[in-house]
Amino acid sequence: MTRKAILTIDGKSIELPILQGSCGPEVIDIRNLHQETGLFSYDPGFTSTASCASAITYIDGDKGILLYRGYPVQQLVDNCDFLDTAYLLIHGEIPGVSEKEKFERSISSHTMVHEQLRSFFQGFRRDAHPMAIMVGIVGALSAFYHDSLDIDDVEQREIATHRLIAKMPTIAAMAFNYCRGRPLPYPQNGLSYAQNFLKMMFSLPSESYQVNPIVARAIDRIFILHADHEQNASTSTVRLAGSSRANPFACIASGIAALWGPAHGGANEAVLAMLRQIGTKDKIPEFIEKAKNKNDPFRLMGFGHRVYKNYDPRARIMRKSCHEVLEQLGIHDPLLEIAIELEKIALEDPYFIEKKLYPNVDFYSGIIFSALEIPPSMFTVIFSVARTVGWVAQWNEMMADPAQKIGRPRQLYLGHPERKFMRPS
Ligand code: CMC
Repeated sequence: MTRKAILTIDGKSIELPILQGSCGPEVIDIRNLHQETGLFSYDPGFTSTASCASAITYIDGDKGILLYRGYPVQQLVDNCDFLDTAYLLIHGEIPGVSEKEKFERSISSHTMVHEQLRSFFQGFRRDAHPMAIMVGIVGALSAFYHDSLDIDDVEQREIATHRLIAKMPTIAAMAFNYCRGRPLPYPQNGLSYAQNFLKMMFSLPSESYQVNPIVARAIDRIFILHADHEQNASTSTVRLAGSSRANPFACIASGIAALWGPAHGGANEAVLAMLRQIGTKDKIPEFIEKAKNKNDPFRLMGFGHRVYKNYDPRARIMRKSCHEVLEQLGIHDPLLEIAIELEKIALEDPYFIEKKLYPNVDFYSGIIFSALEIPPSMFTVIFSVARTVGWVAQWNEMMADPAQKIGRPRQLYLGHPERKFMRPS
């Protein structure tokens, strides 16, 4: 029997069904709230609101659990590559051998971008932030692939999905090289997804380039860890844009824009800047005090999360990977020592304990990226390459949902009531 919540307003009571998911907290279904009471709910930042039903990713923030289609992310990192994970997120199951081959073939057949799209890059200043280029170029894909814009056609949705997953590394590597004044690269379809990305990033026409397998494995792992994270700001942005029936390329461009902010995907860039600003271990207590000071806007970047009130499982894997990569590449990075000490001090500090602030995925990723010679401006770009899989999986799920309708939140209006026009003298 469905449990119900009773809401009483001015002596009148209404019943609100309580819905049960397969895991996690139940939700109160308030869809009839306005119709029955004339009232809206108020929840800025959606801290208590489930915006949709989804079967893709599950997070238990208190226990520090992250599941993609039911599989703990650690198991996927140990047993899969990124394209397995992409297939899983989109189709719901781990691909069999022939499914994987077919999927890989389709992705590699879409890695190139239209030659005319390449000329768009010339319009950007050389010192443009690569995320600005990503927003522009991915949005511009809508102008090139008219044969995958019919969102009611399942096949066209699939082609658009594969195009986006395939072209994101190409566009990201082009943005990186454009900003360095280097020739824009072409993909190499014989390589794996991660190897191809690295080759496009770092190879030059004048030199031979061998992808380091340690680096390729590290990037693949980073891609898996960033592939999806249920209804975060950028995914919700993609869903909201998609709910208006905008085309998938435009929707993903809106997701990239939302990801850019330092409170979301931009945090990994900010972590590295913060570690450099701290500079030496003896300065850590000073920065911890700044982070605790209510009158100081400074926050410990890479710490805290809306959902995780425990160690972010991705951060745990990233921390281990960070040690492995640095050791295997023979790199000694003093920033890693500062990060470890900062984490230790913060985790013992009553402020961070009381507010349940733990390292998140961004805390260690910047150090790995630095070891791989990837500059900070590219960190969020790489996040966007990986997260495209989650965005398209969530967008496809929404498009196939018969209950889907345009997202249209309401507001608590605090402005002037109606008034008569009068120009001030
Ligand atoms: N340093 C210091 N204090 C913090 C921090 C931090 N990093 N994060 C949260 N707090 C405090 C905050 O001041 C607030 O205190 P009070 O209750 O006294 O007002 C309390 O903890 C709760 O913070 P909040 O801002 O209300 O929590 P939120 O859920 O709205 O914000 C967050 C989550 C991730 C935006 C925030 O923790 C933050 O700004 N962290 C730093 C940026 C960062 O690392 N972002 C990456 C997020 S993970 C990657 C991703 O998913 O994109």
